[in-house]
Amino acid sequence: MNIIRKFKHKTSALMVAILMLLGTKTYAQSATGSGISQETMLYITFGLVFVVSLLVLLVAIYVLQLLKTFIRKEMSAEQLAKYEAEPSWFAKLWASWNDLKPLEEEEDILLDHDYDGIKELDNHLPPWWKGLFYVTIVYAVVYLLIFHVFETAPLQEERYEREIAAADALKASQEAGLVVDFDENTVTATTDAVELADGQKFFETQCALCHKADGGGLAGPNLTDKYWKNGGSMSDIYKVIKNGVPNTAMISWESQLNPLRMRNVASYVMTLQGTNPPGALPPDGELYEPENE
Ligand code: HEC
Repeated sequence: MNIIRKFKHKTSALMVAILMLLGTKTYAQSATGSGISQETMLYITFGLVFVVSLLVLLVAIYVLQLLKTFIRKEMSAEQLAKYEAEPSWFAKLWASWNDLKPLEEEEDILLDHDYDGIKELDNHLPPWWKGLFYVTIVYAVVYLLIFHVFETAPLQEERYEREIAAADALKASQEAGLVVDFDENTVTATTDAVELADGQKFFETQCALCHKADGGGLAGPNLTDKYWKNGGSMSDIYKVIKNGVPNTAMISWESQLNPLRMRNVASYVMTLQGTNPPGALPPDGELYEPENE
């Protein structure tokens, strides 16, 4: 038994170590801003922890079985007979949860009915079923008190209205602070480092999918050369981001980005000019020289 205790100790130590490792890894990732929301991160963490715990449990059960085999081998014939006679914990649990009448005692609960030789037993409901039933009754009472009597928690409709109101307030507060003194024809590239970094962050999380993080192009064209399908001025690029290019994968981003953000992203795209990243797509469209403006 000493061996088993030691083994348990080691498994829990291992579990704690794995959990800690998982924890640091996911939080380190979210800190670098990988574009995955914290909520998603939380679910991923829970999922991983669950899978790892399951694996550890399986290994533990396996090792336990192995230990049992060894112990059985060490037992004398007498001990073994006693050990085998004892029902397993699972058999005991099964018996107490189901409380079935043993086959030999079925006579006692046989009903008088006889349907052409088919007889009926007067079995009672199994304890696990009754337990669940009582739980539902308790749950219903608690639910009724919380949601309808004391109203300590909101019902779906109220929750929906609260969330919409909060979103409206957030949108209003964001728009109130915006000062937009340009339109798509007068927009100029920003040189502010913070704004460019904001543009870069957005580009790398949303645009890189098609244009590659370095702008070299994948499903969308190379944005680092002098050749443009829709024009290469700041105003042209801003318009493409704002309106998209109809009938292509380049959608309009106007509904997702406010004008300042679109300017930051467009300005960042301008800074990619001439960076010549490795593996970039060949030029597409017409040569655009800024001097021609
Ligand atoms: C789903 C893929 C996809 C995504 C995501 C995407 N683009 Fe595009 N983009 C394209 C395609 C395809 C074109 C080419 C359109 C055409 O044929 O004129 C394009 C064209 C462009 C152009 C014009 C290129 C030229 O040669 O005229 C710019 C600038 C651009 N995208 C910037 C962005 C920015 C900035 C983002 C992120 C906000 C973005 N794109 C996101 C697919 C995408």
